[in-house]
Amino acid sequence: MADFEPRVFSGMQPTGNLHLGNYLGALVRFVELQAHYNCIYCVVDLHAITQAVDVWGGPKELAQSTRDVTAAFIAAGIDPKKHIVFNQSQVAEHAELAWVFNCVARMGWLNRMTQFKEKAGKDKENASTGLFAYPNLMAADILVYKATHVPVGEDQKQHLELTRDIAQKFNNDFAASIAEHGFGEAYFPITEPLISGPATRVMSLRDGSKKMSKSDPSDYSRINLTDDGDLIAQKIRKARTDPEPLPSEKAGLEGRPEADNLVGIYAALAGRTVEDVLGEFGGGQFSTFKGSLAELAIEKLAPINAEMRRLVADPGYIDSVLADGADRARAIAAPVMNGVRDIMGFIGGKK
Ligand code: TYM
Repeated sequence: MADFEPRVFSGMQPTGNLHLGNYLGALVRFVELQAHYNCIYCVVDLHAITQAVDVWGGPKELAQSTRDVTAAFIAAGIDPKKHIVFNQSQVAEHAELAWVFNCVARMGWLNRMTQFKEKAGKDKENASTGLFAYPNLMAADILVYKATHVPVGEDQKQHLELTRDIAQKFNNDFAASIAEHGFGEAYFPITEPLISGPATRVMSLRDGSKKMSKSDPSDYSRINLTDDGDLIAQKIRKARTDPEPLPSEKAGLEGRPEADNLVGIYAALAGRTVEDVLGEFGGGQFSTFKGSLAELAIEKLAPINAEMRRLVADPGYIDSVLADGADRARAIAAPVMNGVRDIMGFIGGKK
């Protein structure tokens, strides 16, 4: 495959509060990757509206959630000056390329997407067409920057496979035109998902078989980045466990999803391996472990929480970060989209 300049892209939806799953599965990686790549981090407001209006909350709540997620990015350690932070709807090229991809992706591919099935639930007839086509927009988000690496949690893996399929099909279907316009043998990279570490799938604190999610009706199922120390401690204390002591070896976590989850959370927060954590806590009671976990979670999350509060109190600053990020994002996306116009035969592509 042709060489592409390494670039990281990832996105997060502004629907409700960010939780520990978003933080450990994605945000922590976003922060780390800044040292090695040029990164683009996007608050995906166009994705948020694919669900029912009462789920994303309507215009006022969307604007607030967009600022909240931006604040969380910055508070967690993303540097919006060195890298790019913006909201998706400010860069029209996302939606434009998504339309082209609607015509590249096949119905059969989208029919296999498990997240659509989960989100649409039983009443598929009533789901928006945007929810069905959502993975095409996600592919456009990534490929409009020719991003080579995408950090995400486990639940996005299938969408990234689809992104690779779309890039491949575009490169194949238009190979002759791509070459003719001087773009070599492939226009889009085959993006690498970055899914690793002990917390790629953080589970609900109430049920170890369910993913921690914004949409769970029980607030005790998740730790929100906006929770204060007392609430975090309370949620961890009440987290479901089983009656056995913690095992000393990783194999002992098999068939014990709640224990596995809490140990994974500890390891991810501490930047240690699961084996190492079990070496320290194995054989002990959950109550002791939970006490240490609560302390660690508060130590890591309290400063982020405080910084988020400070930032959201200044929406003017947040909006200026997003506007500046959008300008810089557009400067990358526009020529990529112009190339697509030329490749497709749309008149007026070169500007
Ligand atoms: P979203 O907004 O649902 O989640 C944002 C990120 O958090 C991760 N995540 C989790 N990781 C571990 N455990 C969990 N329980 C958990 N819950 C969520 C997600 O995997 C994700 O990385 N479609 C995407 C947003 C998106 C995107 C993109 C991502 C739009 N365009 C382009 C990457 C590239 C989504 O809904 O994520």
